[in-house]
Amino acid sequence: MRKHIVAGNWKMNNDLIQTETLISELKQQTKTSDAEVMIAPTFTNLWHAFESTRLDDIEVVAQNMHFAENGAYTGEVSAAMLKSIGIQTVILGHSERRAYFNETDEALSKKVSQAIAHDMRVIFCFGEELSDRKSGRQEDVVKTQLVNALCHLKADDYKHIVLAYEPVWAIGTGETATPDQAQEMHAFIRNLFRERYNDAVADNLSILYGGSVKPDNAKEIFSKPDVDGGLIGGASLKAEDFYAIVNAF
Ligand code: 13P
Repeated sequence: MRKHIVAGNWKMNNDLIQTETLISELKQQTKTSDAEVMIAPTFTNLWHAFESTRLDDIEVVAQNMHFAENGAYTGEVSAAMLKSIGIQTVILGHSERRAYFNETDEALSKKVSQAIAHDMRVIFCFGEELSDRKSGRQEDVVKTQLVNALCHLKADDYKHIVLAYEPVWAIGTGETATPDQAQEMHAFIRNLFRERYNDAVADNLSILYGGSVKPDNAKEIFSKPDVDGGLIGGASLKAEDFYAIVNAF
């Protein structure tokens, strides 16, 4: 059965000292839910974060990686490098990477394959822009993103995949999709995988919602049957807020 997951995407925030401080505050929180907890610090702090959470119920994950095994890709980080410091999970396809770093579906499809080849778990992000939603094209856009990047995978590969639906218009804006909007899209996505693959793939796929999730709206969003967790930006930078969201399950 699919898992509940709450992951904090720290984005380009927190230097080493701030990372140490936030992790020690996170460790003081009490988890009362069954959700898996993940945090995604920036590359330079992954090793430190991994070492300092070794004994805790917190998984440290990466925000990105390159699709090549190694080679002349200045500034990039490979799956093998992440694995070598204990990182098992990587976020791929975040809308900020797509918008500011020109990540295409084609590149993402290669990244997903590379992560799976290294036995890593992927949190695959996707979501429509405001103009898509205003013109009623949100399902078409999401379907294209998913089919282009993921549908080369075999059914068995989906044990490595977690999906994160993040409507671009709800990220960092304070504007959240309503719980019904999230449920509607998540049900559409699950059905897509039911049609393309089978019931087992669809029913075991954790689909997270991301976009202005806060302590005061998490419970209602997480109460929806096809919402299996959250990918949290701003609110993951405060330990109490983050655990209020974790404990909203
Ligand atoms: P906010 O929670 O700050 O809207 O960010 C969401 C997000 O982009 C997580 O990946």
